[in-house]
Amino acid sequence: MSDKIIIFDTTLRDGEQSPGFSMNLQEKLEFAFQLKRLGVDVIEAGFPISSPGDFESVKAIAQQVDGPQICGLARAMDKDIDRCWEAVQHSKNPRIHTFIATSPIHVEKKLKKTQQEVREIAVNAVKRAKQYTDNVEFSTEDAARTGRDYICEVVEAVIDAGATTVNIPDTVGYSNPWEYGALIEYIFEKVPNVGQAIISVHCHNDLGLAVANSLAAARMGARQIECTINGIGERAGNASLEEVVMNIKTRRNFFPFHTDVNTEQIYPASRLLTRFTGISVQPNKAIVGANAFAHEAGIHQDGVLKERTTYEIMSPQSVGRSGNSMVLGKHSGRHAFVSRMKELGFALDDAALEKAFAAFKNLADLKKIIFDEDLLVIVDEQSRASDYARYNLEDIFIRIGQDKKPSASIRLRVDGDILEGSGTGDGALDAAFSVIKNLTNMEDAVLVDYHVGAVTRGTDALASVNITISAGGREAIGRGADTDVIRASIKAFINAINHCCFENGQVKPTEV
Ligand code: KIV
Ligand code: ZN
Repeated sequence: MSDKIIIFDTTLRDGEQSPGFSMNLQEKLEFAFQLKRLGVDVIEAGFPISSPGDFESVKAIAQQVDGPQICGLARAMDKDIDRCWEAVQHSKNPRIHTFIATSPIHVEKKLKKTQQEVREIAVNAVKRAKQYTDNVEFSTEDAARTGRDYICEVVEAVIDAGATTVNIPDTVGYSNPWEYGALIEYIFEKVPNVGQAIISVHCHNDLGLAVANSLAAARMGARQIECTINGIGERAGNASLEEVVMNIKTRRNFFPFHTDVNTEQIYPASRLLTRFTGISVQPNKAIVGANAFAHEAGIHQDGVLKERTTYEIMSPQSVGRSGNSMVLGKHSGRHAFVSRMKELGFALDDAALEKAFAAFKNLADLKKIIFDEDLLVIVDEQSRASDYARYNLEDIFIRIGQDKKPSASIRLRVDGDILEGSGTGDGALDAAFSVIKNLTNMEDAVLVDYHVGAVTRGTDALASVNITISAGGREAIGRGADTDVIRASIKAFINAINHCCFENGQVKPTEV
């Protein structure tokens, strides 16, 4: 058996489908390019039949991201499989991933079928997918709560039908390493044709054991692990890619296998996801949390200064972190800026680097210390200011007072023209958003979600705002950052309006 573990990343499918983690097409594409740099083997790019947006993003990733296999999810239904193929066929290396639940509770209560019927549906789904591609994955949803012998029956039948990967999910995060490892071992013992397919695992984290269960399964012969960056996913999330990969790398003697992941791209991938979703990982999160490599206790600091390995089992550099959280300031030069950008994993061309450096200098005038988080926001802001932005903010004037109705005057640049307007509202943002809606002819836009966070600490910190608006029956996300929270909110609102225009086909995206 090969000692390579196939890393199947499902951040853009299982991760993105969980509430609060949505990304737009451009962001998904950019994230898929980062997954390529990270060296994952398979990118599950989405669930094409679930929405036109999901279909378009799977198709765009399949068309543009070469290297990893590009996979789409499909229920065990003809229409799902056909739609999935329509999207993934554009990849040089496409995969169809089809699934049906096998546990008694799902079979009886959700599907209202017999086990025999479910097995037939599974076999037919694999055969249908096989008409399109040789690369077919089948998942027995809720496998961890399915009887072992029935699982083996289904696994054998779908392999006979042509499945090249068979996934055994712990859909509800119910299992533990001993039980789950034993299930995988049992499948290897009892399924006669098991050698003709890769056995894969997909663990949810409801009891906090997703990574442990995945690793236990790999020790029993599973050779594909499905996981997500930052462990995002349904409910408590999926197995975290960074934890799976770094366990394998750090404990080679215990886990006698390897992955092809370029671990120095782990931190950039984690940061990119945080930027796109606006949701940070907890500070003590293994590998990518703010404190994961911080030594606070004096005795630990003393030990690390004498010999790093006294308290560090991995180096921060091995996962793409610099090891120092405070890096640049007003007096830092271009050279320090460029090398820090490289360390953070940004491959900017000269023009983009020049713009980012100018933005850094402006920010350094407002803020004493520039943290890595600030640099990530600067790059993000630059990419938002790229030429697919139809509306650009020229100026804002806001008035608020104790007894006055808040008012806003806004100036926007659009296609070489200047649009100006003023209005009042219940608050400064209400006034500003109404003016912008009026100027952009987007009166039907409704604010659905609004989150504001401080990028770092201190009253001079950058504010980062994430907004979701709904307009013309579609939702669009917008983000903005600024040292002023009102400006950050207005930038985010305009960004969301620009995304609506982009999705309505009014403007063309720039190349990623
Ligand atoms: O958790 C699960 O069972 C899934 C399947 C669709 C693989 O996400
Ligand atoms: Zn799942």
